[in-house]
Amino acid sequence: MNERTDFAELDAAASSTDCIGVFDSGVGGLSVLRALHQRLPDASMIYIGDVAHAPYGERATHEIVARCALIVEHLAAAGARVIVIACNTATVLAIETLRARWPTLVFVGVEPGVKPAAARSRSRRIAVMTTAATATSDRLRHLIARYAEGIHVHVQPCPALAGAIECGVLGGPALREILQPYCDEILAAKVDTVVLGCTHYPFVEEAIRDLLGSELTLIDTATAIAERTGSLWEQGPPAFDAAPSVHVLSTGALDTMQLLLARCAGLDQVEVESLAC
Ligand code: DGL
Repeated sequence: MNERTDFAELDAAASSTDCIGVFDSGVGGLSVLRALHQRLPDASMIYIGDVAHAPYGERATHEIVARCALIVEHLAAAGARVIVIACNTATVLAIETLRARWPTLVFVGVEPGVKPAAARSRSRRIAVMTTAATATSDRLRHLIARYAEGIHVHVQPCPALAGAIECGVLGGPALREILQPYCDEILAAKVDTVVLGCTHYPFVEEAIRDLLGSELTLIDTATAIAERTGSLWEQGPPAFDAAPSVHVLSTGALDTMQLLLARCAGLDQVEVESLAC
């Protein structure tokens, strides 16, 4: 595809084959794409990062739902039959609307790993690091009520973190300064298990671990999501794509996405393309 792609070209490029569509507000979903590609190396995938509108966590719900619907429309037109919403915020706010609007598509959402964290915690005290929007969502409240009965759950909103990662703040003193107050609050809550409740956070896992200490367990659900997607994908008709491809598109800047792709084994040669949307 050309460096700047519009949806007509995207549709033409992908119309000959089924593919898995993946999207996020920006670069974070690449942590899920990485796990998906490891699980399904022979499947074609199209990833859209809505970088021009990231972070979603600070936007109004109706705006996030509208952006998600626009992106799904195009992924569906490009041949996606399974769509992974690689964004906790978009999942909690939009998945029900998307399922109702596209009943024939299979949607896989990403939710904070409250269930695995509750199962893993010995002290029965866990923390969930999330965006501000996920922190106050009904869906997170329901997840906690359903899977963490009798467990103390400290919800830690990290409002500046996804935005900083979008801007390429992936280490060093600037990242530490942002993380420190969040990690201090988590340490004060005396938990033993911490959920990375935003797909951006695995890219700064090392810095989080440095501040929280190595005894705490960090939970990222990317591998579980990839497993679930893999089994749904394999239940469908066999894909007949002789040369599976992975396209990564951004509605905004390309640089952080390109930088993070270098950290995704098997995808490090993929060139990020610009998408008008
Ligand atoms: N990666 C996203 C999530 O998992 C979105 C962060 C944001 O855009 O605020 O929630």
